[in-house]
Amino acid sequence: MTDLYAVMGNPINHSKSPSIHAQFAEQAKQDLVYSAMLVPTEGFEPAVKDFFKGHGKGLNITVPFKEQAFQLAASLTPRAQTAQAVNTLILQEDGTILGDNTDGAGLVRDLMINQQQELTDKRILVVGAGGAVRGILQPFLEQDPAQIVIVNRTFEKAQLLAESFKEFGAIEAKTFEELDGPFDLIINGTSASLAGELPPLPEVVVDASTCVYDMMYAKELTPFLKWAETLGAAKIIDGLGMLVEQAAVSFELWRGIKPDSKQVLQDLREQLQGK
Ligand code: ATR
Repeated sequence: MTDLYAVMGNPINHSKSPSIHAQFAEQAKQDLVYSAMLVPTEGFEPAVKDFFKGHGKGLNITVPFKEQAFQLAASLTPRAQTAQAVNTLILQEDGTILGDNTDGAGLVRDLMINQQQELTDKRILVVGAGGAVRGILQPFLEQDPAQIVIVNRTFEKAQLLAESFKEFGAIEAKTFEELDGPFDLIINGTSASLAGELPPLPEVVVDASTCVYDMMYAKELTPFLKWAETLGAAKIIDGLGMLVEQAAVSFELWRGIKPDSKQVLQDLREQLQGK
C-alpha cells in the first residue's frame, strides 16, 4: 500500500504543503500520497487517531492545532519539547507517535544555506512572542548568536519567553523604546503583516548591513519588508523559503531522504508572482 501523509489544519485550503511534498516525492522517487485535511476545531484528536489507524505514516500540523499535537504525541524531540508546539507527527515502528517541530530548523536552514547568512556571533532582534517565535528560539540559540533581543507588543510575553529560553543562550526581552542601535538580523515573527500593520520598531534598528526577515510571505512585499527596504536594509527576505525548508526537514524525518528544496522554492516563487 502507498504510504499516506497529510497536513491537518483549519483553514487548510490555501496550504502549499501538498504541492511541496508531491514535488519532493517525485524528485526522491518515493511512493507516497500527501493530502490536505480540513479538521473541525473540536475534532483534532479523533482525526489524528483515524489517520494513523489507516495507512497514515506522518502528519504536518498547522494552525490552530500545534499545541494539541504537542499534547497528543506519545514522545517528543527536545526541540518540540522546548517549543511546546508540534508541526510534524511521525509514526514509529512500535506504533507510537513522535512529535517534532521543524519550523525553527527550517528557518535556520533558509537563512544559513539559501541566504548565506551567518548567525554565530550576530546580534539578532526577534519581534513577536507568540507560537511562531517560541518554535524558532532554541534552533537560533544553538547557532551561538552574540545576543537575541525579543520585543513584543505585550512586553510581559517577551519577558516570559526570554526567561524560559535563557538556559539555551544569551537572550533578553526589551521594550520597543529601549532599542537604541542597529542589529545584524531582524526576524518578524508577529502576525501584524496579516492585518497590514507594522510593529512599532524605531528606525535605528536597521542600518546598511542589517538583514531583515519576515516569517510571512505574500505576492507583494509585506509591510515589514517594505519598511526595511525604505530604511536601506542590506537584505530583505520573506518566509517562503522557511515554508519549503520546514517541509524538507519533515520529509527527511519521514523518509530518511533529504529532498532538493532549491528547485521547489524557485517554482513556488514563480507561482506566487504569477509567472
Ligand atoms: P503565532 O502562533 O502566529 O505566533 P500568536 O501566538 O497569536 O500567533 O502570536 C502573534 C504575535 O504577533 C504576538 O507576538 C502578537 O503580539 P501580542 O503578544 O501583543 O498579541 C503579535 N501581533 C499580532 N498583531 C500585531 C500587531 N498589529 N502589531 C504588533 N504585534 C502584533
